[in-house]
Amino acid sequence: MTAPTPLIAGNWKMNGLAASLAEAKAVAEGAKAARARVAICPPSVLIERMSRELAGSAVAVGGQDAHAEESGAYTGDVAAEMLADAGATLVILGHSERRATYGETDSLVAAKVKAALRAGLEPIVCVGETLEQRKAGEALKVVTGQVRGSLPADLAGKAFAVAYEPVWAIGTGLTPTTPEIEEMHRAIRATLVEMFGEAGRAVPILYGGSVKPSNAAEILHADEVGGALVGGASLKAADFLGIVNAV
Ligand code: 13P
Repeated sequence: MTAPTPLIAGNWKMNGLAASLAEAKAVAEGAKAARARVAICPPSVLIERMSRELAGSAVAVGGQDAHAEESGAYTGDVAAEMLADAGATLVILGHSERRATYGETDSLVAAKVKAALRAGLEPIVCVGETLEQRKAGEALKVVTGQVRGSLPADLAGKAFAVAYEPVWAIGTGLTPTTPEIEEMHRAIRATLVEMFGEAGRAVPILYGGSVKPSNAAEILHADEVGGALVGGASLKAADFLGIVNAV
């Protein structure tokens, strides 16, 4: 099976106002000849405007979370159908910031993944260990457990990605060593093949956590790394393009 096309996705988190759309347009301009698929996941209120601005470009727009239900009395939440209706084609689910701040469990993430599929969105499902878990030698067990628990069988035959984001590497400037990244990505790949058979080899496994232009080439060329989920460095077009062009 051929290697999946790498995916470079920017997670703007709770950053960006209308003025930031200029950065997204600059990304679209600079990514015309990109070897990777490129996506930006802005705050949900910017999805519709960004989708209009980027229509016809090679840059896809995604959400950062979605509720598991299609509609209902869930004040403040956004359904996967609403993201799709606003122009999103992907959605990040199970980010560690949501797992930590909002107590999202593997089974809730799996329900959200089903919602994304129901709405026709491509889920990017995040997993990753804390520093305590890594120090205790539990990183592989924790992360492969998250993969098993967060990916419903409904994903068989569907487009999706897994993002390995060690919690201690997010926004800290710290990254695992390349052998540590490869060890984890190989373990995730083996789990995907266990769960989905040979189709599990076509799932891009992204790395996330302090990816920047200066370390992108080494990370992106590591074994079983199929792209990156980028936080801080996705907010400036020049930095994000430096990562996109490192593929
Ligand atoms: P940073 O790239 O800012 O470390 O964030 C990574 C991340 O959480 C992307 O989802």
